Amino acid sequence: MYFEFTEEQKMIRDAARDFAQNELKPGVIERDEHQKFPAEQVKKLGELGFLGMMVSPEYGGSGMDAVSYVLAMEELSKVDASASVVVSVNNSLVCYGLEKYGTEEQKQKYLKPLASGQQIGAFCLSEPEAGSDATSQRTTAVDMGDHYLVNGVKNWITNGGTASTYLVMAQTHPEKKHHGINTLIIEKGMPGFEVGPKENKLGIRGSDTHSLMFNDVKVPKENRIGEDGFGFKFAMNTLEGGRIGIAAQALGIASGAYELAMAYAKERKAFGKTIADLQATQFKLADMATEIEAARLLCLKAAWLKDQGLPYAKASSMAKLFASEVAMRTTVEAVQIHGGYGFVKEYHVERLMRDAKITQIYEGTSEIQRIVIAREVLK
Ligand code: CAA
Repeated sequence: MYFEFTEEQKMIRDAARDFAQNELKPGVIERDEHQKFPAEQVKKLGELGFLGMMVSPEYGGSGMDAVSYVLAMEELSKVDASASVVVSVNNSLVCYGLEKYGTEEQKQKYLKPLASGQQIGAFCLSEPEAGSDATSQRTTAVDMGDHYLVNGVKNWITNGGTASTYLVMAQTHPEKKHHGINTLIIEKGMPGFEVGPKENKLGIRGSDTHSLMFNDVKVPKENRIGEDGFGFKFAMNTLEGGRIGIAAQALGIASGAYELAMAYAKERKAFGKTIADLQATQFKLADMATEIEAARLLCLKAAWLKDQGLPYAKASSMAKLFASEVAMRTTVEAVQIHGGYGFVKEYHVERLMRDAKITQIYEGTSEIQRIVIAREVLK
């Protein structure tokens, strides 16, 4: 076992840290307040190769490993989780699935612009009545010979309004249940495809979350990913990697809040000394540091397994479950250390606390992660 990063991994981490401090930090409070999508910043992230980090250069990506992805996600999420979720969804849920399961034509047409950051993608599984119970897809994709006719509604879609390419799960053979689901590539602008209003959210308010409506959308057969009926397995397999990205996002939110709390505690004076000199604060900081380190190790272990080509479903769910709970606990304590200042926007920690909550919900709630882990350990 060797606990050291390569020079390349350190360079990527440092580049992400610089980007977060110089490009994401200015304006992050305002974007949160006004629910403004970080369009300019996402464009720059694309130009720097952060939107197709693990995709082969042949398809416009940066050819990096999953460990580097975790390091970058942590640094970006310390400052702006609304921007980092775009990085996570585009990399793990869209580019990864297209590269692994797409045809050569699909990769040329869709993966290249997504991996090089010219376009953004969205992953469309959740529905008004199918969130955790993802096998119960109500959106239909009726086989019409040379195309599918898609009807239905998708909910809570990250990048819903800004994406150009949407990977949409829909039921083709209801009698076959989850074996009848297909994943189709749908383009913005296809007749019958409409984007609903932007959601007004508690956290990650700068991210662009919408419901999507499909009304007799004609999708060419060549836009199906994999064999007929492969769509659910596609979604599950893709989500395994997605959960590493969200785990790293949660880790970043936690470590961002911890760093702010540490800096504040060293400056703020009370009872004749800094509050960092008080044991009540020290115990909080010690717990935060320990939990963050454990979450980081879980994230890196899951990424390392993925890089080695080894099974990582259990590891990614463990990382997401633990890191998201650490993000909640740490951000709540960071607000507490800041006292009244923690409750106002200028000090950033209240936003991190609001942003932390979604990491326990999207890409599978904490309960779903426990189901995945329990199944693996009981095997
Ligand atoms: N890889 C490949 N196949 C898998 C798999 C995986 N990781 N996990 C399950 N499967 C397969 C199973 O083998 C099974 O196939 P067979 O019947 O052929 O054996 C099939 O999928 C169905 O599996 P289950 O019987 O286990 O299904 P289930 O209904 O009992 O539960 C679940 C599955 C784990 C609860 C699943 O529904 C799930 O993960 N739900 C949560 C969905 C989710 O994460 N949604 C997030 C939306 S995306 C999002 O949030 C993105 C964003 O915008 C940020």
